[in-house]
Amino acid sequence: MNVLVIGSGGREHALCWKIKQSPLVEKLYCAPGNGGTSQVAENVEMDVSEHQEVRNFCRQKRIDLVVVGPELPLAQGIADELEDDGVNVFGPSYAAARMESSKIFSKEFMGRYGIPTAKFRIFTDIKKAEDYIMVKGAPIVVKAFGLAAGKGVVVAETVREAIDGARAMLVHKEFGSAGRQIIVEECLRGEEASILVITDGETIVPLATSQDHKRVYDGDQGPNTGGMGAYSPAPVIDEEIYKEIMTKIVEPTVRNLREEGISYKGVLYAGVMLTADGPKTLEYNVRFGDPETQAIIPRIKSDFAELLMAAATGDLKGKTVEWDERESVSVVLASGGYPGVYAKGKVITGIEEAEKNGAIVFHAGTKWENGSLVTNGGRVLNVTALGETIEEAVWLAYEAVSKIHFDNMHFRRDIAHRAIHRAAARG
Ligand code: AMP
Ligand code: GLY
Repeated sequence: MNVLVIGSGGREHALCWKIKQSPLVEKLYCAPGNGGTSQVAENVEMDVSEHQEVRNFCRQKRIDLVVVGPELPLAQGIADELEDDGVNVFGPSYAAARMESSKIFSKEFMGRYGIPTAKFRIFTDIKKAEDYIMVKGAPIVVKAFGLAAGKGVVVAETVREAIDGARAMLVHKEFGSAGRQIIVEECLRGEEASILVITDGETIVPLATSQDHKRVYDGDQGPNTGGMGAYSPAPVIDEEIYKEIMTKIVEPTVRNLREEGISYKGVLYAGVMLTADGPKTLEYNVRFGDPETQAIIPRIKSDFAELLMAAATGDLKGKTVEWDERESVSVVLASGGYPGVYAKGKVITGIEEAEKNGAIVFHAGTKWENGSLVTNGGRVLNVTALGETIEEAVWLAYEAVSKIHFDNMHFRRDIAHRAIHRAAARG
């Protein structure tokens, strides 16, 4: 089959890398791709927000399966349009993508079916929001309802901070229409984990658990980023908690969507907080996590392209994933300054050397320029290694990182610290 992957990050390089390994795949394209995807797929220069261009391309190249990486095209209905043309799409419809594109939709959905989540209220009026925040007190969380590239959430330690956040969204329109309405919710305490499953709307095939590191500096300090590293599995999720997450969150989500007439196919990603009262849903994403995917995918032994096609065509029943039992760690190498202002165009060296001991380097913000690989984004590379223990995986990942260089490179040195502490405590 011919496959098109949409997107340009580390997640998409990992997707392409694994899809390419399938004997079922004849041609693999990535639009627009990056410096890494061009080594395993043919990059297609295309504005993927122009859905007509994508449709034309699929027709010309006889694409059998489109795998959509990021949320935005899904929220804009690309799956529906391509399916109208008879193309199989791994990724949910416009209606189903509201689970991520509208926090009001997803919170009300969870409310309707008793899916555990933080208690919340919705506001469009700043005065009412302020009154509510003052009555509830801090800590409290304020969120823009729409897509805000992971930036529309204020976890406020003080009432002042919460009110400033609400004003930034409702009054100063810092997130444009995504902040037209806000959610003010209870602040949950606990450890976070990412639960990703593949579904065709009926059958659910779980992927391995993982944990992301959202803050830019070691010790979870500094501003939030898209994610500075991940590891899989997440040992904080033992069998019992896992079962609870599946029966109280994931299964009722897929089932109730279906019962509402929304057939969900693709990845469903539940961000959960493991609170003292059990797991609660922080958010849903309708796509693979980035950088979780770069840690999870190298552990998959089965034919990934076949699995994605089965989900896209409603044929997941009986399918399973075979896992590499080793643990994996993926460290993000970022441009200094990220998530704020950073430079681009810095020459990257050492990737081949880094891969000599078996590490895998997935590209995120890179491109080829006059024969050199240069930086082209905030998150530049993801260095993934597998090990028999989490300590070994961490050691191998950082050894590979030490070979790579570009000016002003920044990375966290404590990826997987929670798992390491847990392993140390076990002895
Ligand atoms: P979201 O986009 O909803 O996942 O929020 C981004 C991040 O904000 C999450 O990964 C959490 O770290 C944090 N967060 C969101 N909601 C809450 C909450 N109710 N309580 C505590 N932290 C939260
Ligand atoms: N790693 C967080 C996300 O993909 O949203």
